[in-house]
Order: sequence, then C-alpha cells, then structure tokens
Amino acid sequence: MTDTELRVSKIENGTVIDHITGGQALNVLTILGIDGTSGEEVSVGMNVPSERLGRKDIVKIEERELSQNEVDVLSLIAPNATINIVRAFEVVEKNDVTRPETVRGILSCPNANCITTKNEPVESRFDVLDDGVRCTYCEMIVRESIASHINSA
Ligand code: CTP
Ligand code: ZN
Repeated sequence: MTDTELRVSKIENGTVIDHITGGQALNVLTILGIDGTSGEEVSVGMNVPSERLGRKDIVKIEERELSQNEVDVLSLIAPNATINIVRAFEVVEKNDVTRPETVRGILSCPNANCITTKNEPVESRFDVLDDGVRCTYCEMIVRESIASHINSA
C-alpha cells in the first residue's frame, strides 16, 4: 500500500498486525486484552482493501509486543496475519503466524467441570486440531466460534 493510500497512521514503536482475516479485528483485540480502558494507543482498520486477501483488518498498537501465547491463539482466527515489529517508524521484524500444536492460556474451556475452569490455578491448554481445538485436560472439543471462548469475551 502506498503512502497516499494509507488510512491509519504509521506508528513509531510497537506492533502492526496486518492481513487479519476481514471481520476478526475485534476478536484480535479481545485476545490481546485490549478494551480501550487501559489507555493503550491502538488504531484499527476494518475491511480495508488488500491485494492478497481482498479485504483485511489491521491492528496497530503503540508500545506493545505480543507474547507467544497471544500469537498462537491469534493464528487460529487470523491464519494469514503478519506480525510487524516497528521501532523508530521502521519495520524491524516481520513474521507470519503459524498454526501451533497447542495453545496455552487466553482460551477458556467450555466444560464447567474441567480442572482449568475450577478455582485452581491451572492454565488452560488446548491441542490444535484441523478444524478446532481440544482441551488437553478434559478433551472437550471446540469447533466453532473459538473467539467466543476467549477469556473475558
Ligand atoms: N506500518 C506502520 N507504521 C510504521 C511502519 C509500517 O503502521 N512505522 C505498517 C504499514 O502500514 C503496513 C505494515 O505496517 O500495514 C507493514 O509495513 P511494510 O512492511 O512497510 O509494508 P508492506 O511491505 O506492504 O508489508 P507486506 O509485504 O507484509 O504486505
Ligand atoms: Zn477442559
């Protein structure tokens, strides 16, 4: 995209999550725990034209790098996303997301009797299947609307 077409300003330092599947930007924000109340500086583009995807969403966050757990869950809802690390206005690192074998934290198990949903401090863990995820502890499978199982969603 050329500068004349730029819709959301460039950022100085932080992370640009580009090529997000159209419609998934708000779910990406939820995965990152961003709800606007903590003062984070965030720009969001939704359904912007993309040569590669037709339409894409884009999220730019100042002063933030993502954890591996966050990137892993993000890959489930935005498999084509590119994570760009920006320092002093330059992209210094660019990584495609890859589908991991397991994801930890962030998603919660829908089974009320699962050890991870009790009060015990057991971090959630899911094995990634071709068409969903399966709780490592109770084996409950989540196939649809993974986004609705994001903690605090
Ligand atoms: N970007 C930004 N602020 C910067 C630098 C880049 O917001 N200081 C954004 C760009 O607008 C773009 C993304 O980060 O959406 C990646 O930047 P760049 O690698 O320069 O763009 P492309 O070459 O188009 O990326 P790709 O090849 O991954 O499509
Ligand atoms: Zn479970």
